[in-house]
Amino acid sequence: MFGLVIAVAAAVAADGYLMAPHLGKPMSADEVSKWNKTIFPDGQGLPPGRGDAKDGRVLYAQKCASCHGDHGEGATAEELVGEPKPPTPDNPSKAIGSYWPFATTIFDFISRSMPPSAPGSLSADETYAITAYLLAANKIIGENDVISAETLPKVKMPNRNGFIWIDVKK
Ligand code: HEC
Repeated sequence: MFGLVIAVAAAVAADGYLMAPHLGKPMSADEVSKWNKTIFPDGQGLPPGRGDAKDGRVLYAQKCASCHGDHGEGATAEELVGEPKPPTPDNPSKAIGSYWPFATTIFDFISRSMPPSAPGSLSADETYAITAYLLAANKIIGENDVISAETLPKVKMPNRNGFIWIDVKK
């Protein structure tokens, strides 16, 4: 035990901090900023930028359709497009337009994790455009509506009141 304490103390002294296993390399500030983002349901954390469904459709076809289907109907990965109404026991659809309570989560999920081969690779404008395309395809916004940090939090999702919040005071 005493030996271990000395060894740790020496390692701390040598480098000024506890010696790491020296695997990989420290992440640059740029790399960290790609992952270090949180967008809240009310839109807090959304970056500047804008996009519409027309541009989003092109990007979707290039980067998403191979797994989610040509029109978001689902293929090897989940369906993204469905009827704009809450899920029911007869139709327990988890499509964005049916299940998701907040539109801001679409931007958040896509920007941090899609496409799976290159998460974080989409620009803010591209992510707003794809979000606009998915909202329009789910018939929640119009084809020409512009989606941005200002407009996205105002989009009301059909299943907005379909959840019971764990922090609600009784
Ligand atoms: C290589 C296949 C692949 C590609 C390409 C891909 N996805 Fe996905 N996507 C997945 C898989 C697999 C999941 C499920 C991941 C999970 O549940 O953790 C998923 C989940 C999602 C979800 C959440 C669905 C839900 O209901 O939980 C969204 C939204 C989404 N993808 C959007 C996109 C967008 C937008 C693109 C293009 C920029 C894209 N994906 C490209 C495979 C893919």
